[in-house]
Amino acid sequence: MPLRVGILISGRGSNMLALAEYAQQDDVNADIALVIADKPAQGLDHASQLGIETLLLDRADYQNRASHEAAIINALDDAEVDAVFLAGYMRVLSADFCHHYEGRLFNIHPSLLPRHKGLDTHQRALDGGDREHGCSVHLVTADLDDGPVLIQRAVPVLADDDAETLAARVLKEEHIIYPMALGALAAGLLSIDGDQITMEIGELPGRINGVDAPLSWPA
Ligand code: GAR
Repeated sequence: MPLRVGILISGRGSNMLALAEYAQQDDVNADIALVIADKPAQGLDHASQLGIETLLLDRADYQNRASHEAAIINALDDAEVDAVFLAGYMRVLSADFCHHYEGRLFNIHPSLLPRHKGLDTHQRALDGGDREHGCSVHLVTADLDDGPVLIQRAVPVLADDDAETLAARVLKEEHIIYPMALGALAAGLLSIDGDQITMEIGELPGRINGVDAPLSWPA
């Protein structure tokens, strides 16, 4: 049975697209079952164009965070997802939500965690004089951007970078490591059981961003 994946987005959805394009390859044992946005989002149209089921659960239509999250959980559970990937989902999730999907809730964050949790990571890397910046895929726990890191990629910070050029360089790496984490999960090279995270070294199925050679996990 393919791994069934739900994705939450808030905007552009380029990481969602990287995951979807990866999962749609024949040799990748994963299906994107549902993409949900918390506000009208460009990414929903892109997901529909790929034939993926989408749902807008607009936060503005709900009284409070609890009722909004309950609607998201209902939709994800109805779609029988095995894992949930946050892809530019810009809301802080409650501890209850995180516990509901404990061990199967993932996030991509635009920094080399534990540096620069939260927002404006690129500007903060520049302001901090960082020589390296990057991105991290991590498990989501109730504490913001604090769950165990599964894979990271670094890029150099260049002398003439501004937040935009740096973000673009990091985003390219995000589009590689997030599908890698999905591929590892779908191929059984990554498994999570309570506090126990097991990573097996292996070759990932499929191609990511047109890379021909098989990608090795976790490097
Ligand atoms: C990405 O850079 C992602 O890492 C970041 O938002 C961007 C979304 O872009 N996520 C966060 O900052 C989460 N706190 P996308 O919608 O094109 O994937």
